Amino acid sequence: MPKISARAAQAPASPIRRLVPLADEAKRRGKKVYHLNIGQPDIPTPEPFLRGIREAPVQVIAYSPFQGLREAREAMRDYYAEWGLELKTEEIIITQGGSEGVLFALNVTCDPGDQILVPEPFYPNYNGFARLAEVEIVPITTYREEGFHLPPKQEIERLITPRTRAILFSNPGNPTGAVYTEAELEMLAELALEHDLFLIADEVYREFVYEGRYISILSFPEIEDRAIMVDSISKRLSACGARIGAFVSRSPEILTGANRCAMARLSPPTMEQYGLIAFMADPRHREILEEMVDEYRRRREVLCEELRKIPGVVFREPEGAFYVILGLPVDDAEEFVKFMLTDFPGQETVMLAPGEGFYKTPGLGRDEARIAYVLNCDDLVRACELLKEGLELYQKAQEKVRG
Ligand SMILES: Cc1ncc(COP(=O)(O)O)c(C=O)c1O
Repeated sequence: MPKISARAAQAPASPIRRLVPLADEAKRRGKKVYHLNIGQPDIPTPEPFLRGIREAPVQVIAYSPFQGLREAREAMRDYYAEWGLELKTEEIIITQGGSEGVLFALNVTCDPGDQILVPEPFYPNYNGFARLAEVEIVPITTYREEGFHLPPKQEIERLITPRTRAILFSNPGNPTGAVYTEAELEMLAELALEHDLFLIADEVYREFVYEGRYISILSFPEIEDRAIMVDSISKRLSACGARIGAFVSRSPEILTGANRCAMARLSPPTMEQYGLIAFMADPRHREILEEMVDEYRRRREVLCEELRKIPGVVFREPEGAFYVILGLPVDDAEEFVKFMLTDFPGQETVMLAPGEGFYKTPGLGRDEARIAYVLNCDDLVRACELLKEGLELYQKAQEKVRG
């Protein structure tokens, strides 16, 4: 059999999904697993969106135009206008989720062998996208103690080389929960101008802001020629499987490149675009979005309160998105996560995402884990109780091993 490419063979498996077989095995043994490891929201997809799909005016599920249906792009344009972002329909390309938007962005801005700067810890699928685009990620390390905010400009400048093409970041941050301040975004804009870089802002969590103020990368006119916003309805409409996102830029050159990528993949999902159109046409859409965010705000409060009760667990309250990075009182968080799935007694357990996979710098994140607060408040309380018990048991077991 011919050998598969090095690019595919070396593309990293998602660290969030790697331990799923252990969770499946626990479930086969009859255990209930509280999944805090993956950002799959549990809230029902809003009815107007579902209705839009059910009542889509189609006889044939045809390809849509490669940039997406005009009405879907206009729906996105109207959505951004509600955020104070004036965009033209032509500046918006509908993508297959934020994932495809990131992939387009890397392919439009970078050639093989180029580098991008990415604040770490970061969304681990960036590794996979970078690998496929043959781009090297150079991490800008950020720290829990600083709420995962950016280091000073000179520190970032030190990482820039002749091969650096872009800075990619998620804001609000997965897994950090950080919401960048205006000063931080201005610093990134300055860096982009002074070093001739593109800025790729992954804003799929734009609605989920609890502290601070969310500012889009497209609010800075001076970097219009180099800014790309990646967006998605997956999280805000609890519609991860709809595969609808957007690639947005005001730069004609960037749009030309992205349109080529879009042509090559023919069409974003047709039916789900009708869902988006119907959702945005519904007069209650803003209310529905706000209710969704209010639910996450409550979850965040409950979760933080419960986490504070667990000895040895340290964290910063997330300002946005729906994740929190925990510092755990263990040497190796992955071993602890495995222990919870294989050795923790009783009928219930909890699954977290080990922290190391969110870092590029070797060794960082070993004693950390990420929680996605995508469960209802009662389940979050129960999951934290299990986590507390689990840590006590695990620490005792570790002490025994050490003698
Ligand atoms: C930061 C970030 N970007 C992009 C995505 C991709 O989402 P989707 O492709 O479903 O829009 C995710 C999903 O978890 C994410 O957390």
